[in-house]
Amino acid sequence: MSESAAPFVPDGADLDQLRAAAAACKGCHLWENATQTVFSRGSAGARVVMVGEQPGDVEDQRGEPFVGPAGVLLRRAVGDAGLSADDIYITNAVKHFKFRRQGKRRIHQTPDRTEIIACRPWLLAEFAQVSPRVVVALGATAAQALLGPSFRVTKQRGVLLPWPESAYHAEDFAQAGGSAKVMATLHPSAILRADDRDTAYAGLVDDLRVAASAL
Ligand code: URA
Repeated sequence: MSESAAPFVPDGADLDQLRAAAAACKGCHLWENATQTVFSRGSAGARVVMVGEQPGDVEDQRGEPFVGPAGVLLRRAVGDAGLSADDIYITNAVKHFKFRRQGKRRIHQTPDRTEIIACRPWLLAEFAQVSPRVVVALGATAAQALLGPSFRVTKQRGVLLPWPESAYHAEDFAQAGGSAKVMATLHPSAILRADDRDTAYAGLVDDLRVAASAL
């Protein structure tokens, strides 16, 4: 049988109960090398859910999402776009850090489809608890997890789409229904790597303003 977090996700659990249960998740093999599960930050009352790829090296050690350099940039962009940090629930498509060792360094590896699918039951449970008005996929991995493997962030970023109708396997996300929207944008790490960081950053802020306009 394929790997899945489903047996670890308690039915009808609130966010605190989900976070506690996720700490013991062995739904795929990624738990073996990671320090800990990195679940989410934010409250069930948040109007925006942001989904990243997976925790990085710093997040893996601290146990919180987006606390490294990408998180610093994201928080600045959130403020510059006029969004309130209190209105944001932030999580990742995959809850364990995937990496390979190179000497003492741990080098990020992009999660593959089976790992993203295995971790999806956590995302579904989070959406059911938060019921956001806007969902923001940060980067290609999150966009593909939420919007399907043919979604291209570079071509389709910054466009508000109906949620959950646009979701990949929309029926799974139907609990989050209502009049929500979904939008994809660049991952903050891609902005840190960009040759023209200022332009890339301005693009992220513009996209987040589009998300803010849907609140
Ligand atoms: N990148 C992500 O996608 N998520 C994090 O939590 C940190 C960096």
